[in-house]
Amino acid sequence: MDRLKTSARLMIVSDLDHTMVDHHDSENLSLLRFNALWESNYRHDSLLVFSTGRSPVLYKKLREEKPMLTPDITIMSVGTEITYGNLMVPDDGWVEILNQKWNKSIVIEESKKFPELTLQAETELRPHKVSFYVEKDKAQAVSKALMECFEKHGLDVKIIYSGGMDLDILPQGAGKGQALAYLLKKFKAEGKLPNNTLVCGDSGNDAELFSIPEVYGVMVSNAQEELLKWHAENAKNNPKIIHATERCAAGIIQAIGHFGLGPNTSPRDVMDFLDCKLENVNPGHEVVKFYLFYERWRRAEVENFEPYLASLKAACDPSGVHVEPTGVEHSLCDGIDGMRSIYGDKQGKQFRVWIDRVLPTQIGSNTWLVKLNKWELSGEERNCCKTTVIISSKEAPVAADGFTWMHVHQTWSQEETNLKDNSTIIL
Ligand code: GLC
Ligand code: MG
Repeated sequence: MDRLKTSARLMIVSDLDHTMVDHHDSENLSLLRFNALWESNYRHDSLLVFSTGRSPVLYKKLREEKPMLTPDITIMSVGTEITYGNLMVPDDGWVEILNQKWNKSIVIEESKKFPELTLQAETELRPHKVSFYVEKDKAQAVSKALMECFEKHGLDVKIIYSGGMDLDILPQGAGKGQALAYLLKKFKAEGKLPNNTLVCGDSGNDAELFSIPEVYGVMVSNAQEELLKWHAENAKNNPKIIHATERCAAGIIQAIGHFGLGPNTSPRDVMDFLDCKLENVNPGHEVVKFYLFYERWRRAEVENFEPYLASLKAACDPSGVHVEPTGVEHSLCDGIDGMRSIYGDKQGKQFRVWIDRVLPTQIGSNTWLVKLNKWELSGEERNCCKTTVIISSKEAPVAADGFTWMHVHQTWSQEETNLKDNSTIIL
């Protein structure tokens, strides 16, 4: 909550499965496009919130499987668990609120009387969430009967049906929408209400997000029938909500453009960086651009590469040093020359690079220290380097000739799972 000293320029609150993450896109291209856009243009002054039905266990699993960014706030288990930052510090105040008129054991006992319900995996049963599977045509009748049953026990619960199969039972005050309302109230109390908020979803448990006043909303093109139905019945005339024509994260990017919430060209959509006009000069963009180039370089996707190498070399301070995660040091210029030997070594293979938590700090009138986590996926292996870059501009504000790289220092991150062959140059 405290990372930003003032109001966030944009707060994105996004569902994960089939919204931020497209399970039908094995290359994860739209997610990677979103990542590059977020880190180059928004991370430094905006907030990323993931709001998922998954429990902490399944959320962590998804993060291991997909190239996901680290959100500022994570809301899990359908708005029943809120945590902050990379360390995922829980919001205990929220737990207190959810304890009202809630009794998990009664919910489980009573639900057992319904043979239509199949209990979900143990990990998905949480202190304030009990979840089942139920067939689509039985969902409505079962929900109604369950509600009556809980009322008799003096419980005030909420039943949510999602994805044409999941039935969640939560305290009445819980849910993705209520969790967002709670966060907005906290921000308001601190005088840091985000300038704009965009909510993004695809299924039933996301519907509540769209009923929070003042927010913009995008239902991705692949949204489920139950969400579209909810929208048609409850929010049809709200001009702040769109049904995107693009799937998943591409639909989120589309909504940023549609509502004019800020830049919406992902650096991944810029093929020629030499041609890229510097309307967008900031340190975050500079590092995103470099690591994207590095990915394309190794995938042999850079045509006519001499001018690129020349411009990269020109952007290195002649006395600049790169400390590799192995501890080996060499000059930045030698590192650029060394890239020749790895051109296209990942051609036709699975190889992606993305950077996360790009946080620039201005340390001089025209110098920035940029911290970031650089991830690399190569085949089945994935690793992460904690990276610190010092860059400066010749003039302030940054002039058309952009930045000079002064220093790069990398160490293996603990988040890194597979230490691998270090024989090639690591950038
Ligand atoms: C996620 C959760 C599941 C829940 C569903 C819908 O898939 O793992 O427990 O029922 O979201 O909210
Ligand atoms: Mg979803």
